[in-house]
Amino acid sequence: MAKLSIRDLDLKGKRVFVRVDFNVPLEGNKVADDTRIRAALPTIQYAMDKGARIVLASHLGRPKGRRDKRYSLRPAAERLGEILGFGVGLAPDCVGEVTENLVESLAEGELLLLENLRFHPEEEGNDPEFSKRLAALCDYYVNDAFGTAHRAHASTEGITHFVVQAAAGLLMERELRYLLGALTDPKRPFVVVMGGAKVSDKITVIDNLLGIADTVLVGGAMAYTFLRARGLETGRSLVEADKMDLARRLEDRARERGAQLCLPVDHVVASGPEDAAGAHTVDVDKTPADQMGLDIGEKTRAEYSGILANARTIIWNGPMGMFERSPFDAGTLAIAKAVATASSEGAAVSIIGGGDSVAAIHRTGLAGSITHISTGGGATLELLSGDTLPGVAALTDR
Ligand code: 3PG
Repeated sequence: MAKLSIRDLDLKGKRVFVRVDFNVPLEGNKVADDTRIRAALPTIQYAMDKGARIVLASHLGRPKGRRDKRYSLRPAAERLGEILGFGVGLAPDCVGEVTENLVESLAEGELLLLENLRFHPEEEGNDPEFSKRLAALCDYYVNDAFGTAHRAHASTEGITHFVVQAAAGLLMERELRYLLGALTDPKRPFVVVMGGAKVSDKITVIDNLLGIADTVLVGGAMAYTFLRARGLETGRSLVEADKMDLARRLEDRARERGAQLCLPVDHVVASGPEDAAGAHTVDVDKTPADQMGLDIGEKTRAEYSGILANARTIIWNGPMGMFERSPFDAGTLAIAKAVATASSEGAAVSIIGGGDSVAAIHRTGLAGSITHISTGGGATLELLSGDTLPGVAALTDR
């Protein structure tokens, strides 16, 4: 990697500011999904083992620059403590005298979590004075918050201008290794599966990947904008009418670049998402005008699975249908199995990102077969669009 790594730093006795992404879902005052906390453990454990004095910092939600106890990181501190087997202290704020004293009193190998960075508007404003105050808490800065690396905030970008060395954490390195590896030197065939509701959310991703991948398999409601642009009846399916030109341009681009852009050949339709009883499969050129497409059909699942079986690199982002409602989750689950099988029985390096695709792979019980499950949402998409992430660009060059 072109950037400094935590492994390059001499951490013993040093105060190390580790920016993590503990922006986790809560249920009441408990962490509902601790994936992102667990993902930060290798870096935390590494820094503890090396005798660093660790200052963990994160945002949680969007409290709009005001202190709001609904967005306190206390549940994250408690969950981290449960996982590590000892209590993790939570500083009352991310800056200020009390926090500074707590940081100073940390012994080697000890850690402290700071309260939500976004309780201060200066965090999202990337305010230089605030960045300086954060930097004053540490000797070294480590960014392990891959999920927030697309934000140029004080704790992800500004702070790097006021520390001697700014390095990537182990999660950050892993995310970049797999995602950038697929983009820059993929083993072929390189197959991308793109799903989700709106093509407008993923235009730049599809555009960029059409220049790199061999095949892009499209599913989810976004497929209907492409199908309508081809002149097909799409019934009551979700179509972004103002994006049809763009869908045509993406198809042209695929042809120019010699990439295959595949659309569903059949789909599961019903009168609406509540109409599970009315679900039935039709070919995409036989969509009744009063029906809505809610999942890819069996022929499409078989075709996409066949293409995935031969892939050597796979990136999957976004569900193939209305995954949150049975029976419209079957297509997404079939793709999850196909991606896992291509990894475990085939030769594919598989990378999955995006909430529903990650949930689907967990539901199949096959997550262990996946090479890399990304913790990023927006950050993963921005990276796949070919953008440079400000939180990565700001790190010290090797
Ligand atoms: C995420 O969950 O995508 C990151 O934590 C970034 O959060 P944000 O979209 O509120 O900046």
